[in-house]
Amino acid sequence: MSVTRSAIRSVGGYLPERVVTNAQLAEVVDTSDEWIRERTGIHERRRIGEGQATSDMAVEAARQALERAGRSAADVDLIIVATTTPDLTFPATAAIVQRKLGAPVGIAFDVQAVCSGFVYALSVADGFVARGLSKCALVIGAEAMSRLMDWTDRGTCVLFGDGAGAVVLEPQEGQGGTADQGLLGFALRCDGTKQDLLYVDGGPSTTGTVGHLRMAGQQVFRHAVINIAEAVEAAAAVAKVPVAQIDWFIPHQANQRILAGVAHRLGVAEDRVISTVATHANTSAASIPLAMNTAVEDGRIKPGQMLLMEAMGGGLTWGACVVRL
Ligand code: UT7
Repeated sequence: MSVTRSAIRSVGGYLPERVVTNAQLAEVVDTSDEWIRERTGIHERRRIGEGQATSDMAVEAARQALERAGRSAADVDLIIVATTTPDLTFPATAAIVQRKLGAPVGIAFDVQAVCSGFVYALSVADGFVARGLSKCALVIGAEAMSRLMDWTDRGTCVLFGDGAGAVVLEPQEGQGGTADQGLLGFALRCDGTKQDLLYVDGGPSTTGTVGHLRMAGQQVFRHAVINIAEAVEAAAAVAKVPVAQIDWFIPHQANQRILAGVAHRLGVAEDRVISTVATHANTSAASIPLAMNTAVEDGRIKPGQMLLMEAMGGGLTWGACVVRL
């Protein structure tokens, strides 16, 4: 049976120039390089420049992905930006990216699922691409998390970084089996009753402010390790791909201990897990495409391989998807 799949043609990434080390943060809050490394695996993170916006990082990542796919902005008919740090309350950052790229009139909107945003956005884009409504889609995760930090809260401000990652998604004919290239299955979850565990304490219709990120770290940690594995198994079941056959796990980069805990639960060997926690920290919706970009650039991830992406974040949201590159 012939089916249309959404295939990832290329990936691109962008990290702002400014590096912020753990030692530098220890000058601002009561923390230490040792504590941050031991509890999270983070050594450093990037911080967006003054006057730079989320859309600027998104555009850089998108341009790289388009170039690698052999496409130009003129080809793009759908832009989805997963972000929790939009340039403005509206228009959508995707609309700003469209303008800055010089892409023609088409579909452009944002997806807000916080750290799970990229997995959500990829699944939403699949609905357009696989139904023939988009011939060339950009799915971007872009975050300026440093703008949401309370720099007096050592429990959160050391954990996050800024950056953007993008993929070009295009239709690809397949046979309906696991040999097909493209998005083969996904599982998305949200439990709104757990809102208080991870949220931002401001917004346009409540405080009229941007607000700061608040997190009950230990509880989020426990939720992540326990529940992500279920979503991974569910996505693998939809794709009809046993977890053991996945070539590369590309998790959301929140904490090295969470990556290891989820991999352990799933019986996945550590050397199949892509980790950029040490140098990127938690870049929310940007973390998965940035990690994928790193492993494509260094030659670990190759065309034809089976990838599994998974994430968990504010909402609480979580999810996973299986893709053959
Ligand atoms: O992307 C969205 C998903 N987010 C996550 O997945 C994050 C999930 N949570 C975590 O990664 C971890 O829970 C944290 C890294 C946030 C915290 O690690 P933990 O091992 O759970 O530490 P804890 O919260 O239990 O705190 C242990 C101690 C506390 O001190 P006391 O009460 O034992 O004296 C904290 O006050 O560590 C203290 N602490 C710190 N000490 C130095 C908390 N943050 C820091 C810090 N530096 N930055």
